[in-house]
Order: sequence, then structure tokens, then C-alpha cells
Amino acid sequence: MPAPEMMHAIRVHAYGNSEKMHYENVLMPKIEADEVLIKVSATAFNPLDHLIRMGVVQETFPHKLPYIPNVEVSGTITEIGKGVKNLKVGEPVFALLNILSNGAAAEYVATKAEYVAVAPKKIKLPEVAAMPVGALTAWQALFDHGQLESGQRVLIAGAAGGVGTLAVQLAKWKGAHVIGTASEASFPMLKEIGIDELIDYNQEMVEERIEDKLDLIFNLSPEGSNEVSNWLHLLREGGTLVSITSPADGKVAKELNVNVVHMNVQQSGEQLAHIAKLVDEGVLKPVIAEKVKLKDLAELHHRAEVGTVRGKVLITVGE
Ligand SMILES: NC(=O)c1ccc[n+]([C@@H]2O[C@H](COP(=O)([O-])OP(=O)(O)OC[C@H]3O[C@@H](n4cnc5c(N)ncnc54)[C@H](OP(=O)(O)O)[C@@H]3O)[C@@H](O)[C@H]2O)c1
Repeated sequence: MPAPEMMHAIRVHAYGNSEKMHYENVLMPKIEADEVLIKVSATAFNPLDHLIRMGVVQETFPHKLPYIPNVEVSGTITEIGKGVKNLKVGEPVFALLNILSNGAAAEYVATKAEYVAVAPKKIKLPEVAAMPVGALTAWQALFDHGQLESGQRVLIAGAAGGVGTLAVQLAKWKGAHVIGTASEASFPMLKEIGIDELIDYNQEMVEERIEDKLDLIFNLSPEGSNEVSNWLHLLREGGTLVSITSPADGKVAKELNVNVVHMNVQQSGEQLAHIAKLVDEGVLKPVIAEKVKLKDLAELHHRAEVGTVRGKVLITVGE
């Protein structure tokens, strides 16, 4: 059946509050030779989505208005470009999209095939959309930059969110001893996914709780650079702090003979294929706090603005 000409999507028409987001009928995306068209099953919310929409990170993420938000997707391929060899029409897939292209808050999205992997079968296709950002960020932080190995000690600062919960599971799979910071309300969920030690960031200072040296710190907490830099002395010589939020002080790191990395997640269909395998082996699962429908995305952005969104939110499109 030929794809329709028009589709439903959420578009951001101007930077500012969430009232500038509209659920409307828009033209279907067209694909290039190296792209695929995905019929979206679900997408997911990330804290950066509402910062982009408010316009506070315009210099780093210069979107052309109006734009369709959302970088995470799961769905089914409905069309492939002439140059795409590794994917087929009808395959269930997932991907982290280019943040500057039109996103997955829509019935269909076009993306480069190299960002796409076949979805795991062990969990339902919509739920797979809660994984690309968290799993790729955690994989790249822990393994590409952090070189985490079995038996090592890792602190995950900000363990309870979309990225942290996948980082905890990946670090446990690697055989590490995993310590996490979270609020007490998140403790039962983090124990269920296998965390070894917990620090309540509302009650305790990380530097007062940790006695034995750490091999790796993965920081995704909202703590400022000064606080994050205070944790550097908890690392063994040659250890590494990887941050995806505030960077640690490179001068302090040099004095202590430890490494600091400030990273941004990169798309990788190849790494998503490893992640899909781990899901099918029962090693990894998304932790979904809430599900909302696509047409209610503006309301979710409003809640994110006022700080009442907790944990990973899945946005269902094709159910
Ligand atoms: N640079 C990159 O490539 C990249 C990629 C992905 C994400 N990020 C950033 O990384 C951060 C986390 O992303 P996410 O998707 O995991 O967010 P999220 O799902 O909103 O989770 C944030 C978590 O932070 C916890 N938290 C709040 N204050 C904390 C504190 N002082 N110390 C430790 N934990 C604290 C909360 O835990 P409780 O619920 O237990 O209070 C919450 O679950 C965001 O700022 C996001 O923008 C960056």
C-alpha cells in the first residue's frame, strides 16, 4: 500500500512555552538514498527536548522552525533508500535520530540507515523507544570512554533516570561493582535492577560515603562543576570521570593524575544492535515510569518545565 501524503505530527512553531507546540497534519517525509522511512510505534521524552523547545540551547541546536521534536524511535520500516542494503521493509527497528532533523513525534520519520538497528524481540516494540538515548549514552560513557572492566568500581551519579537505569544494568552486565546516587523513592527500583550500593543525594555527600577508590565515575546528575570536581579525588590514579552534564575541572584532574571526559552521545546502529542482543538475552530492559499519547506531548513539556516529570516517559504513536 502506498504511504499517505500527509501524517499527524507535533510541530514546534516558535521557541518559548509549550503552547507553541501543535498536533497537526503535515507532509510526509521523503527519504534520500541512504535513508529509511519508519512508521513510528513510539518515541520517548528526554530532558533536552524541552530545553530545545524553550530556545535556551539555540546556539548549540539551531533548529529551523517549525520542527518536529524527539530523537528516539521504535517502529517498522515502510520504505528504504536505493543505497540501503542491511535493512528490509517490514522490519521492526529502533534508532537515535539526528537531533537537528525532523524527529519522531510523528506517524512517520526518515532517518539515515546507519543509525538504525533491528529491534529486540523480548520486549514490546513501543517500549524499545525508551532505550536509544539511554543505552547509547551509557554504552559510550562506560565502555568507549570509561573502559570499564569486570571487577572495577563505578559510581553512577544520577542513577535513577532514563540514562542512569540503563547504565546501572550495563555496568552490572560487565561485572562491575556499581554505586549510584538517587533519591530514596528510587531505591527499590534500583535494587531491582541490581545496583550494589545507594547514596541518597538529599541526605548524604558522595565524598563522605565513598571510602575505597573508584575506577570510574559516570556523572549525569544536575550537580555543578565544582561539586563534580570534588569527586575527582575519589578516583584511583589513572581512573576516569565521564560527564554528560557539568564538566569536571581538567586542571584538578591533571594534578590528581586522573582523566576527565565531557561527552555527547553519538548515533550508532552498530551499538544498538549489541544493545538489542542484550535485551533479548534478558540482560537489559527499559525502565518506563509513564506512558503518554503523542497528542498530549505539549502537556508533558509543560510538566517538564515545572519540574514534575520523573523517570523515562514513553510517547505512544502507533498503538
Ligand atoms: N550529553 C549527552 O549526550 C546526554 C545524553 C543523555 C542525557 N543527557 C543529560 O543527562 C541528564 C540525565 O538524563 P536522563 O534522561 O537520565 O534524565 P531523567 O530521566 O530526567 O533522570 C534524571 C534523574 O536525575 C536524578 N537526580 C535529580 N537530582 C539529582 C542529584 N542531585 N544527584 C543525583 N541524581 C539526581 C533523579 O533521580 P530521582 O528520581 O531518584 O530523584 C532523576 O531520576 C540530563 O541532564 C540530560 O539532558 C546528556
